[in-house]
Amino acid sequence: MDAGLIPAELLQCAVVESRQVGAYRLISFVAPQIANLAHPGQFLMIRLAGSELDPLLPRPMGIHNVESDLVTMLIDPVGKGTARLAAAGIGDRVSVLGPLGMGFRLEGDAPAVLVGGGIGISPLKLLARALAAGGREVRCLLGFRTRKEAVATELFSGVRIDVITEDGSIGRLGLVSDPLPGCLAREPGKPAPEIFACGPSPMLAAIARIARECGNLAQVSVESHMACGIGSCQGCVIRGAGGYLRVCSDGPVFDVEDISWQ
Ligand code: FES
Repeated sequence: MDAGLIPAELLQCAVVESRQVGAYRLISFVAPQIANLAHPGQFLMIRLAGSELDPLLPRPMGIHNVESDLVTMLIDPVGKGTARLAAAGIGDRVSVLGPLGMGFRLEGDAPAVLVGGGIGISPLKLLARALAAGGREVRCLLGFRTRKEAVATELFSGVRIDVITEDGSIGRLGLVSDPLPGCLAREPGKPAPEIFACGPSPMLAAIARIARECGNLAQVSVESHMACGIGSCQGCVIRGAGGYLRVCSDGPVFDVEDISWQ
């Protein structure tokens, strides 16, 4: 499947699963149109149906997983829109547009090191599954503030996981980027590991620096405020190495060297 730019339509979908996962809320809804097309790293514009004016804009959110006709999202309820979405119960409906954007490129056979920070771990589930299904060796570095957010590691299975917390309440103490250099050595007979990352900007900047210093390829999924989600409003632009980039339609996944990290 291509990494993105698939036509999307606005759908209203019934929530069939809603449960707490530590600090986050996981909801699933039936959307075969999205499940059949979704590529790892793509996102949805999503809101609770019936809340069209409050908040005004839907939220961009990376697709956590797809299974048969089901689409699953992991929500960090930090603002009005995400809090309302996180309160959705079974039978409530969500309004969704997607899948949108350009996802991760999966070609190649290099070992994959996935790095997620906080809610940035969300899209790495679908990515880890796709890479493993393609025969790639997959290792995940998942970083959180505390043990409460780190409960979300239970959503990952079948791949090697290292947990890092900023308060040391579980796993290794420190930042998720700390152990990365030690994961990037090329093993005999294998290509150098490739990095795939999603998380807050300072984390991605640290990963860009490490990738450059260690000489590894890296793709990063960038977070941005979005209004339209489809490349029309210019509300999500970031500075790229060769000019401005729209996160929603040129990304949200970029090669690290395509972004200006100044
Ligand atoms: S959100 Fe409108 S151009 Fe990206």
